Amino acid sequence: MEDPLPFRVAVRPLLLRLKHVHPHVYWHGQRVAAVMRVAATRFDVSRKERCRWVFGALLHDIGKLVLPASLLMKSRPLGDHEWARLKRHVHYGLYLVEQALSVEDARPLAPFLFLHHERPDGEGYPLGLTRGQIPREVHLLSIADAYVAMREPRPYRPARSHEEVMKEVHRRRGTQFEEHALDEMLPVLEHFRLKPFSPPSPEPTPARSAKPEYGRARAV
Ligand SMILES: [Fe+2]
Ligand SMILES: [Fe+2]
Repeated sequence: MEDPLPFRVAVRPLLLRLKHVHPHVYWHGQRVAAVMRVAATRFDVSRKERCRWVFGALLHDIGKLVLPASLLMKSRPLGDHEWARLKRHVHYGLYLVEQALSVEDARPLAPFLFLHHERPDGEGYPLGLTRGQIPREVHLLSIADAYVAMREPRPYRPARSHEEVMKEVHRRRGTQFEEHALDEMLPVLEHFRLKPFSPPSPEPTPARSAKPEYGRARAV
């Protein structure tokens, strides 16, 4: 990933497809990338590493491309089978990016794609890793991801304010969020206290039928 340009070209069709099929997931990735961009600047990481963090954020949920809107936009709690299906997005994401690049070229992004739902307390998925087994940058992404997700509206709840989200973030310190990574990220999240995410989150509406969305997704 020395030169991000060919890389950008290779993953562009995937991101455009996501923008078309699940725009709310696409814009979620853009917002998480905005947070990771601020983090990379603040932590003064190399250009190469900054590029990896930003693309990791843009693509972290790309596996949702192959899931139906009826599952992603459900307004009631998910059943066991639905939840298991949703969790598969980390596998699909890695597969899609390995196909778009190559297994070798996708390797720098693999931790973001595959491990962003791991948690320091071992309660995450897909592997149930614990704090020291999860790379620092994945801890950072996981905090950015959760912060952005809580600031966005969902079919089953409205968007929350920065203050409400920060209370929740502190409550999950040491369980969902690794302590050192959280200390690093707090000033980064503060940057987004008053800054509205762009574009503003559209109010998501629950999908009526799985069929058309599933058909489009399978064509990818
Ligand atoms: Fe995810
Ligand atoms: Fe996410």
